[in-house]
Amino acid sequence: MRTFVPLKQKRNMSKRYTITAALPYTNGPIHIGHLAGVYVPADIYARYLRLTGNDVLFICGSDEHGVPITIKAKKEGVTPQDIVDKYHAIIKTSFEDFGVSFDNYSRTSAKIHHDTASEFFTTLYDKGEFTEEITEQLYDEEANQFLADRFVTGTCPKCGNEEAYGDQCEKCGSSLNATDLINPKSAITGNVPTLKQTKHWFLPLDKHEDFLKEWILKGHKKDWKPNVYGQVKSWIDDGLRPRAVTRDLDWGIPVPVEGADGKVLYVWFDAPIGYISSTKEWAAREGKDWEPYWKDEDTTLVHFIGKDNIVFHCIIFPAMLKAEGSYILPENVPANEFLNLEGNKLSTSKNWAVWLPEYLEDFPGQQDVLRYALTANAPETKDNDFTWKDFQARNNNELVAIFGNFINRVVVLTNKYYNGVIPTPGEFSQVDEETLAALKAYPSVISSSIERYRFREGSQELMNLARLGNKYLADEEPWKMIKVDEARTQTIMFVALQIASGLATLCEPYLPFTSAKLKGILNISDENTWDSIATKEVLLPANHQIGKAELLFAKIEDDTIQKQLDKLIASKKANEAANKVTEPQKDTITFDDFSKLDLRVGTILEAEKMPKAKKLLVLKVDTGLDVRTIVSGIAESFTPEEVIGKRVTVLVNLAPRALRGVDSEGMILMTETAEGKLVFVNPDEKGVTNGLQIS
Ligand code: 2FM
Ligand code: ZN
Repeated sequence: MRTFVPLKQKRNMSKRYTITAALPYTNGPIHIGHLAGVYVPADIYARYLRLTGNDVLFICGSDEHGVPITIKAKKEGVTPQDIVDKYHAIIKTSFEDFGVSFDNYSRTSAKIHHDTASEFFTTLYDKGEFTEEITEQLYDEEANQFLADRFVTGTCPKCGNEEAYGDQCEKCGSSLNATDLINPKSAITGNVPTLKQTKHWFLPLDKHEDFLKEWILKGHKKDWKPNVYGQVKSWIDDGLRPRAVTRDLDWGIPVPVEGADGKVLYVWFDAPIGYISSTKEWAAREGKDWEPYWKDEDTTLVHFIGKDNIVFHCIIFPAMLKAEGSYILPENVPANEFLNLEGNKLSTSKNWAVWLPEYLEDFPGQQDVLRYALTANAPETKDNDFTWKDFQARNNNELVAIFGNFINRVVVLTNKYYNGVIPTPGEFSQVDEETLAALKAYPSVISSSIERYRFREGSQELMNLARLGNKYLADEEPWKMIKVDEARTQTIMFVALQIASGLATLCEPYLPFTSAKLKGILNISDENTWDSIATKEVLLPANHQIGKAELLFAKIEDDTIQKQLDKLIASKKANEAANKVTEPQKDTITFDDFSKLDLRVGTILEAEKMPKAKKLLVLKVDTGLDVRTIVSGIAESFTPEEVIGKRVTVLVNLAPRALRGVDSEGMILMTETAEGKLVFVNPDEKGVTNGLQIS
């Protein structure tokens, strides 16, 4: 049994924290990868720090500039503003629905952000922190546009990934300039770009190399997660180069200097400043001063991001903050790796994802289940796979069978034996003392996990506390004891209720909805703090009235999971269909060639399976000339019954040939849909689309 570990003194001192979560691009809803990689861990951290009495500011907002948004708008034939308005609202609602407790959720199209980013740029410009260069940039002659960032793809010079973007390779994480790409191709027209001269402002990262080395490599950043530290070290070791912070685009924040018409700030210049403008928006609303949260050395700044954002948060943004001169730098950047879904990379464009709005429709009120499943299997140290089976197991075997079961037993028995009034305990046995001591140790155990950004480990410790409760009940058997020793039963139930109360507080960062529900059942509010669980003699006093039992979690059945798997299969098929390449046109034929084909309308009169041939049906077809036998390879798409009576197009003058010993005297014309199903040639048949070949 775990022994009591006193909490460290430092936890009694309130500290100021600024916690940021990556601003999501508003070009689609949020999916489980975003939640697992960034927002759930950030929320656990923020909630925990608030519960332990710190001054916490948890900030986010929508990233509404950048090429992905312009591309999406073009595709849908709407304006970028339409796109960002739509998805800002959807994303903001998802965060609220899933209990992500931002103190402010802003957007980079807000005036306060445009002003803050412009001012930041101007400060650096006035300080001479930029270089101004006329360079040759990639240009699409047909689209009449420079090709920056995601407007261009090509081969990454570092790792050979053929789908790298103009600003970054998502495979190896390298930050790139568009002109670095090998075999660049315009994402707008598919054309090979030309080079055209244009003026831009550059942040000379090479000038900040010494500072970055000092700060990250020689500083105290060795306690950063190895994946983060390793990536940053290798970039610095490779040598840093100037980075353009402006773009020739029409969507973004206009570059606030003379001679910059038609140019906007690079999205990765303005987006991280969004953390600052969101703070300003919050401070104005709350009547607070924003500056200590960004400029006071006593503030701890932590950025939660996914691994594709590491270079921007560990090198470029710190260099910008340092160049500005009055800001603090991040204490830590606990980036996560990626979450895959059922063995494949999550993908917005391929619709290979579990979208949060859809999850809520299918699992109403079960936000904590997803939060828990994603945390228990979080991609903290390596890419991880989300599977619906694991989700079901986390719910059924842990939340229902351990946590929910313990609480249910305690509440039901307390109501049954004592009408819901907490009994007065007698003398504690050694097991009781040990159990209570173990309970008191949990705040410090879970704290230690959370403070080291090991949220997954913390979630398992939380479950261990519920296990402790279950084991205690199973060993002490109050349901048997009540028949022989009422006084002892009172003590057992009192001890179990203390554990239930401890769980209600300690689960809050992980399972905020469950915590609120459990507190409601136990009829408590915030009388127990995180730290007081370790120090208070009694968490739920005798004579306190609790409420009735309510189920905290419900079992998820196999058919519910199967529906989710079916959804993914349908999405995969639709995606394959959308990507199916239309066969190029065959060589031209003369009219004489064509008129050699004798095509007739016919009706299938009889059909039967060809013995021992999976694909073949033997048909009797009335061609108007005669009734003849045609062997057709359609048995995998139709049963004989389905085709009898069908009117079809028949090539009647095809030379007869024997198939499995049966003479076939013609051919029925068919086409194959993108899903691989053969159908008769009729433009109204399901799946028949333009361009399918008839054969
Ligand atoms: O990768 C992304 O989704 C970016 N929109 C993250 C921006 S984080 C910050 F710098 F704003
Ligand atoms: Zn690469």
